[in-house]
Amino acid sequence: MGKIISNKEISPNVYLMKVGGNYKGDMGQFYMIRCDNFPLLSRPISIHNIEKDCISFLYEVKGQGTEILKNLKEDDKIILQGPYGNGFEKREGKIALIGGGMGIAPLFYTAKNLDNVDIYLGFSERSFLEKEYEGVCENLHIKIGGYITDMVDFDKYDYIYTCGPEKMMEKITEMGKDKVYVSVEKHMACGIGACLGCNCDTKNGNKKVCKDGPVFLGEDVYY
Ligand code: FES
Repeated sequence: MGKIISNKEISPNVYLMKVGGNYKGDMGQFYMIRCDNFPLLSRPISIHNIEKDCISFLYEVKGQGTEILKNLKEDDKIILQGPYGNGFEKREGKIALIGGGMGIAPLFYTAKNLDNVDIYLGFSERSFLEKEYEGVCENLHIKIGGYITDMVDFDKYDYIYTCGPEKMMEKITEMGKDKVYVSVEKHMACGIGACLGCNCDTKNGNKKVCKDGPVFLGEDVYY
């Protein structure tokens, strides 16, 4: 059980929630989050950041579960289960992190934990958290509207880690081939591989996003 430190709207319908406690997690992993009084509405939310005595989550309000989350105030209680999933690996070499929309969320903590990264963030209408991302990467590129892929020289990188709309990740995989690792988003009920609710069709058969992913080699995924 965690206690909310803050839960602020940082852009229309986008919230940053900080929860006090000593939480663990790797780059690209997620927690199942639910309110104390609504036990059936767990939501998978990726780790945005972990600091001393605090973990944070960036989420968009787009359904009943996140509507409930957004109304939580300082000192309210929340249940976090995790960390779950296989996230981004720590690899040697130059890495581009490419996020689209809410797909930027896991890339903050990922950038903090890698040594040689450039970040590319694409937004449809307005950007957010630019200063924060600048604080974890000297080479931050922002694009509002259009294709973020237009800004990326794929030859410059040994690996590309991406999260965001499927169409964007598909295009990035076409361009970056076997350098690309994608973080897949699916609806989840259990988060631990028990309900079969988060299947993803891959070249290696049906995989569970919550347990086998959410990060997969881009070329393995059927979009
Ligand atoms: Fe239940 Fe993935 S959410 S198997």
